Amino acid sequence: MQVIQGIKELEGFRSSFGKHEQLGLVPTMGALHAGHLSLLENAHRNTDHTMVSIFVNPLQFNDSKDFDKYPKQIEKDLELLKKGGCDIVFLPDTKELYSEKPILSFQFGYLEQIMEGYHRPGHFNGVAIVVSKLLNITRPHKAFFGEKDLQQLRVIQYLVKDLSMPVEIVPCATLREPDGLAMSSRNMRLNAAQRQRALLINQSLRKAKDLLGKLPHQEIEQLIEKDFSAEKLEYFSIVEKDSLKKCTDPFQNKEVALCIAAFIDEIRLIDNIIVSS
Ligand code: PAJ
Repeated sequence: MQVIQGIKELEGFRSSFGKHEQLGLVPTMGALHAGHLSLLENAHRNTDHTMVSIFVNPLQFNDSKDFDKYPKQIEKDLELLKKGGCDIVFLPDTKELYSEKPILSFQFGYLEQIMEGYHRPGHFNGVAIVVSKLLNITRPHKAFFGEKDLQQLRVIQYLVKDLSMPVEIVPCATLREPDGLAMSSRNMRLNAAQRQRALLINQSLRKAKDLLGKLPHQEIEQLIEKDFSAEKLEYFSIVEKDSLKKCTDPFQNKEVALCIAAFIDEIRLIDNIIVSS
């Protein structure tokens, strides 16, 4: 496994690949778990060379405390990637990647007004800037992103489509713990009691799924809000799977995404499931 930090070195290494060899990129912020490794496995199945980038991107944190507390475990991450058969790890340096604060900024229209876009102003701009940089530097044929961050996945799909970027975005299913909790780097910050309370997040998605088609969406949303009387629910929304626009007709035979964000004390977690309504 090759570990590369410098952009020039990475570009040089990248140029050594044969014309027909496909490169698969998995961008991450580290603190790796089985969910990240499933993206790497997907990249292995679909490309000839796999690259994982690890970079905790300051530009996408709208809350500086969240950035400071973001878990970091680079040695363990490198071990996991070695075991997972990763070919190249790219560890960009903040000073090199952001030698100056970008003057460019991205706006994603209505996606800025809903769910993550609404509650984390500037977040998707930061994501789009760093993902654009990573795609331009590494020039992968395919890049792998989790459905766990469904709205981020849509933002990146629009970014690539709107700018005609020559890369295929491959969506990957969400990996969960046996009790349903979606795997997340932020789970590492939960103590045992908080970990137990966090189960409410996935449980409410499953409850809402059972109620789909039986009750109007607004009533389902109100029931879920009630279940969170002891926790801080940021949003629970029933949206169209592709556009992520609000979906109000309960009896339309459409695929919908049930999306949720909640705080367990100061730790913010998100989850979603995609179902036929
Ligand atoms: P990070 O949270 O580290 O996630 C990296 C990738 O792993 C994302 O595509 C995310 O959707 C995926 N992922 C996270 N948890 C998952 C799970 N339980 N199952 C499957 N995939 C999962 O998302 C980011 O980093 C950053 O915003 C990034 C895209 C790297 C830009 O900085």
